Amino acid sequence: MIRILPTVVPAPAETSDGNRLGADHPIRKVTRLVAFEPGGWTAERATQVSELFDGLAPEWHARDTPGRGAPVEDALERGGLGRGLCVELGSGTGHATRVLRKRFDRLLALDISMEMLRHAPPEAGVRVRADSGCLPLRDRSVDVLVLVNMFLFPHEVDRVLGPDGVLLWVSSRGNQTPIYLEPTEVEAALPGAWEGLTAAAGRGMWCVLRRARATVERAPGTGR
Ligand SMILES: C[S@@+](CC[C@H](N)C(=O)[O-])C[C@H]1O[C@@H](n2cnc3c(N)ncnc32)[C@H](O)[C@@H]1O
Repeated sequence: MIRILPTVVPAPAETSDGNRLGADHPIRKVTRLVAFEPGGWTAERATQVSELFDGLAPEWHARDTPGRGAPVEDALERGGLGRGLCVELGSGTGHATRVLRKRFDRLLALDISMEMLRHAPPEAGVRVRADSGCLPLRDRSVDVLVLVNMFLFPHEVDRVLGPDGVLLWVSSRGNQTPIYLEPTEVEAALPGAWEGLTAAAGRGMWCVLRRARATVERAPGTGR
């Protein structure tokens, strides 16, 4: 179950940029394939995506408009993320990495695009070029995984997150974010049962998910 928190960071007055994205948009189709179809992420697709974002990297900073960090900041405030090792997947030019740096001493920023990583500030954290479809991370080794406007690889998220680990999913333009899934879709895509919180913040939204605890506790000593 995902609980909806009240909004504390309201959306700015002009919330629409007129750019309405539908489910048939190519990047939306890839987003759904990766999240829901086994084999949806191929080597060919990885190369295409890497080249696409390499090309976009020099101008990506233009998207860092005032208030874009609101969902991550709100999630850090109210999402119960805890501390420990934080890994940001699809970190791009490091916009969210800079915000995460304020909370996490152990922070890894990972992206498939070398050009995106090159344009990220080195002081924001350790940067690694890798494909999130095949993470160079040990099983159950991560405390907090952060995905901002990024494809969801459900089995890798489940594999690398520790038993008490949390996933922070952020869409910085809400349902107008090109790489977008509803919080309930993120929950449905992940293996097993998950629960969490979600809220709108500024133009965007965030959702924090953790593995669901068993609802019925065993009585001590009864074996039942
Ligand atoms: C829409 S951009 C978002 C960048 C950044 N999180 C932001 O919000 O500014 C998606 C990012 O994910 C990266 N990406 C896409 N597929 C990836 C993959 N399989 N593994 C790692 N990074 C990936 C892209 O290179 C790009 O930097």
